[in-house]
Amino acid sequence: MTALVVAIDGPAGTGKSTVSRGLARELAARYLDTGAMYRIVTLAVLRAGADLGDAHAVAAVAKNADLAVGHDPDEDRSYLDGEDVSVEIRGDAVTKAVSAVSAVPAVRTRLVDLQRTLAGGQDSVVVEGRDIGTVVLPDADVKIFLTASAEERARRRNDQNVAAGQPDDYESVLADVKRRDHLDSTRAVSPLRPADDAVVVDTSAMTQTEVIEHLKRLVRERAGAQR
Ligand code: DC
Repeated sequence: MTALVVAIDGPAGTGKSTVSRGLARELAARYLDTGAMYRIVTLAVLRAGADLGDAHAVAAVAKNADLAVGHDPDEDRSYLDGEDVSVEIRGDAVTKAVSAVSAVPAVRTRLVDLQRTLAGGQDSVVVEGRDIGTVVLPDADVKIFLTASAEERARRRNDQNVAAGQPDDYESVLADVKRRDHLDSTRAVSPLRPADDAVVVDTSAMTQTEVIEHLKRLVRERAGAQR
């Protein structure tokens, strides 16, 4: 198969990261996790002690942050100023602050530019995020939008919390999922929505292996139809 650009968007809790990695592996493609890039910039902002409510200060840190991400679906490391921060960017402090940082337009402009550069090249790439099919790569060969019911996403997140030793509190996790859905889909800059030409896949009743197989078929069909 010739080189393909696959965009995978959707909210958290749809299995997006695991599925995107799995698909990249199956297609022998590179994998680009754009959420990790927003997380690295957020860590830089926190380390600089910038006020999260001050868009100018956040933008200034983002402009100068030296960030890098790996492309291997089995070894996607994240770096800030040459330091491996792959674990730290998944921690609570970054997770709580990342929405504020990713809402700053200057942050998005810088990262979207970088994402376009990183996605370019001769080989196939699977790019995962929130605005890949709509903003970053509107010419992607295949666009997929993963969804799942709020209840199913809350159940998955609550299960992860419990496995990580946190309290079992499905109702408040569900309320949080619904609150974030509303914020994400109504924000002014790059609201979360499927591109007009995206294939929407509801993963509520599918295993991750089933989703990967389904996407593989979609990619082959779409790629075959174009060439
Ligand atoms: O996918 P994730 O949870 O690692 O993403 C982290 C945050 O970055 C999340 O709040 C959404 C945001 N994000 C974004 O605004 N645009 C993207 N293309 C990817 C992530």
